[in-house]
Amino acid sequence: MINISSVSRRFPGAPIAAVDQVSFSINAGDCAVISGANGSGKTVLMHLIAGLDRPDTGSITRAKDELGKPVRIGLVFQDAAAQILGDTPIEDAAFGPLNLGHTREEAHRIAVDSLKRAGLAGKETYPARTLSGGEKRRLAVAGVLAMDAQVIIFDEPFANLDWPGVVQVNTIIRELHSSGKTVVVLTHELEKVLALSNRLLILHQGKLVYNGTPEDALSNAPFETWGIRNPLGSYTGKADLLWV
Ligand SMILES: Nc1ncnc2c1ncn2[C@@H]1O[C@H](COP(=O)(O)OP(=O)(O)OP(=O)(O)O)[C@@H](O)[C@H]1O
Ligand SMILES: [Mg+2]
Repeated sequence: MINISSVSRRFPGAPIAAVDQVSFSINAGDCAVISGANGSGKTVLMHLIAGLDRPDTGSITRAKDELGKPVRIGLVFQDAAAQILGDTPIEDAAFGPLNLGHTREEAHRIAVDSLKRAGLAGKETYPARTLSGGEKRRLAVAGVLAMDAQVIIFDEPFANLDWPGVVQVNTIIRELHSSGKTVVVLTHELEKVLALSNRLLILHQGKLVYNGTPEDALSNAPFETWGIRNPLGSYTGKADLLWV
């Protein structure tokens, strides 16, 4: 679906590259988790993959769809609220199809359908700013569905969400994946989502330090060396309820 080959991006004045000689592929139907500590390069890499920024060196290629067009990549930003452009969910979800050249009626129909698929049926004309955090993420997903993206990348989708919110996001991820979409989740919170994935990639200081199965990582990856809490860390009593 997407091939990333020796990609590097270094910002002016930065001591090290934010993304350093990274190579990997995302395959059709993958549910891939890309993890790494704060500042490890996840968001920069997402911007490069989506074409919002260009690598200094290396190349990123996308597969072509049936019509010969590069597959569309939809992004759900960490701050889903910042992604909302419309005053209402229906208006917001119609932006993409209108930009793609659909008529108002078609855009409306696509928006209604996308909101339904994202679990926002009944909230089409709510004031968008009053949606909950989880619902704002659903709205971002509806926008991505309305654009008919084949690949959906979530940047820190669990940030600021309570338990029901996390469960909602995971329900969306599971539904998208089972409907045939390729899903990429960028997060350091492995314990919340790793079970849904078939691939795990880990960035550390801009370098790709792990690319394999979640199962192999759980049995022998040195997560702590990369600033990630071992997701199998368990709690059995009060004394364990402290992150040290
Ligand atoms: N526009 C920019 N200009 C300069 N440096 C940048 C820019 N964007 C990102 N960086 C730097 O690149 C590095 C990687 O940042 P990035 O946002 O990709 O980290 P991240 O893995 O997404 O972290 P987090 O978990 O906090 O979201 C950081 O050191 C950051 O300061
Ligand atoms: Mg980030």
